[in-house]
Amino acid sequence: MDQIIIQGGNSVRGVISVVGAKNACLALMPATLLCAEPLTLTNVPRLSDIDTMMALLQTLGVDVDRSDDGRVVTLSSASITNHVAHYDIVRKMRASILVLGPMLARDGQAVVSLPGGCAIGARPVNLHLFALKEMGAELELKDGYVRATASRGLTAGRIEFPSVSVGATENALMAATLARGTTVLGNVAREPEIVDLAVCLRKMGAQISGEGTGEIIVEGVDALSGAEHTVIPDRIELGTYMLAPAVAGGDVEFVGGRRNLLEAFCGKLEESGIDVEETARGLRVSQSGCRPKAVHVVTEPFPGFPTDLQAQMMAMLSTAEGVSILEERIFENRFMHAPELLRMGARIDIQGGSARVTGVKRLKGAPVMATDLRASVSLILAGLAANGETVVNRVYHVDRGYEQVVTKLKGIGADVERIQNS
Ligand code: EPZ
Repeated sequence: MDQIIIQGGNSVRGVISVVGAKNACLALMPATLLCAEPLTLTNVPRLSDIDTMMALLQTLGVDVDRSDDGRVVTLSSASITNHVAHYDIVRKMRASILVLGPMLARDGQAVVSLPGGCAIGARPVNLHLFALKEMGAELELKDGYVRATASRGLTAGRIEFPSVSVGATENALMAATLARGTTVLGNVAREPEIVDLAVCLRKMGAQISGEGTGEIIVEGVDALSGAEHTVIPDRIELGTYMLAPAVAGGDVEFVGGRRNLLEAFCGKLEESGIDVEETARGLRVSQSGCRPKAVHVVTEPFPGFPTDLQAQMMAMLSTAEGVSILEERIFENRFMHAPELLRMGARIDIQGGSARVTGVKRLKGAPVMATDLRASVSLILAGLAANGETVVNRVYHVDRGYEQVVTKLKGIGADVERIQNS
């Protein structure tokens, strides 16, 4: 398995361009199942999760055409020739469950493997199933699959989610576009990726209002049509790299960065003494050598502090001045980066969903293990400022969500290499 080797101590300067949002694409791509005409997405990132979703859609009969640079993807599902999303693909990427709603809305049938848990938690899909049942779907759970039917089509209704779920909101939103009548979705997720999906669905002819608020209203239509849509920037990639100058010192501009995509995160960076400035091309982050200050972080649904930046923030706070508290309120097991940071000399005390981090002056480079996508980049960030060499193992996790991470970090002066192991 490949390794990433970091020699710590360099400050970072230069420019990083932000790519399209992985988590927006993983909802936009299944939307093609809602209509027979082509859906073209631009600003698509080159990531293994995107490849997995393309492969899954192809098994359902979707024609996929991708430009040479990988940035433009045209998806055409003239007809869905197979309504079964098999376990061998779904287990690789949980977002595969997002084919359920659109397939059911288009053809009245869908069989999707239950995704199962992952490193950060049990990740149930009960809220997805709750919403589709409320729309009249008949659901049968058998042999690890959910078999959904709606022989007379889906019916609109008022659906109040018991708790906020990004994926369940996306599945319900896509299904509601073809449900007869007016669907009101309450207590929905407000993430920018939800807004981007709604904007794309509207371009396809869907009647949607309220996206980005806690309530989305959808007037069902008989059919949707093809469209072209540019994917929003990836706010989690952006936030991750913003922490590079925060951790290592320096000054970096992020082309395509938009503060309104991660206001809560930017606020916490500024509270810790990091400068965040809006520029004509995006955002600029600088840290003039003084240690960041400790802060209290609580992860919440958007517009709160994103759980997908918690691990990366912990890497920075490991060398902050003072004691920080990070409360992980979205997932039940999202501190697996902590034991690895402890190996690097961090002082972290985990009590349930709360981590108490006592900042140390410098971390020490060490061999560490990536356990999940965001933990992997947390360790890379920690390595940037550590004394000596850090070797990050199992870097396949990084490739799921970060395009050319070594190239991007080398481009701003970090001493980072990737070793290809057989
Ligand atoms: C999306 O996952 C993102 N993935 C996650 O990013 C992100 O961490 C998460 O939203 C929260 O922002 C994609 O968009 C592909 P949820 P999702 O449903 O939709 C529980 C990354 O690193 N829940 O909002 O699966 C769930 O267990 C990934 O890019 C239920 O109980 O997240 C969690 O505790 C990681 N039942 C909470 O709700 C359900 O039916 C929020 O999950 C669904 C979720």
